[in-house]
Amino acid sequence: MAELGRIILTEQQIQSRVRDLGNEITRDYKNTPFVAIGILKGAFLFLGDLAKQIDTEMCFDFMATSSYGRGTTTSGEVRIIKDLDDSIEGRHVLVVEDIIDTGLTLNYLLEVLRKRGPASLKVCCLLDKPSRRQVPVQIDYVGFEIPDVFVVGYGLDCAEVYRNLPYIASLKT
Ligand code: PRP
Repeated sequence: MAELGRIILTEQQIQSRVRDLGNEITRDYKNTPFVAIGILKGAFLFLGDLAKQIDTEMCFDFMATSSYGRGTTTSGEVRIIKDLDDSIEGRHVLVVEDIIDTGLTLNYLLEVLRKRGPASLKVCCLLDKPSRRQVPVQIDYVGFEIPDVFVVGYGLDCAEVYRNLPYIASLKT
């Protein structure tokens, strides 16, 4: 198992930013019931904490995607492992992701979801790595912009390990 490097974001920094994002989303969706779509597996902790900070009507659905391959870089191909349980036609949708790296996963997902006719489609991600972008994607709520470092913890993994850390850390190189 790869060894942890340094802490990039502490638990306190994450929780404080998640509270701010929750408040912002609450304000924006005050009279607009919406469905939050958590993208598994990475977003599970973030969505759980974020949801507790949202004080307006919402429900949940989940999709699981995976880029092919098990390395630390994406191969660019995306597959849907688990699709939504319910239709999103005519509904307000907020996609919740842990990290946007090349943008390929989100770009593909948004294309798929847009075809299903949602009333609106927005994106909230915890981490954004803009320096890695290969396709432009619009992100409506961003937790933190981070440099091009491979990070684990708070949902993010290295070969499926470290998702349970309450903070985000780099790996030893
Ligand atoms: C990660 C992350 C995003 C995607 C971002 O998912 O959760 O979905 O990669 O990378 P991109 O912007 O370069 O497309 P991953 O496929 O590793 O699955 P996981 O969430 O189950 O770890």
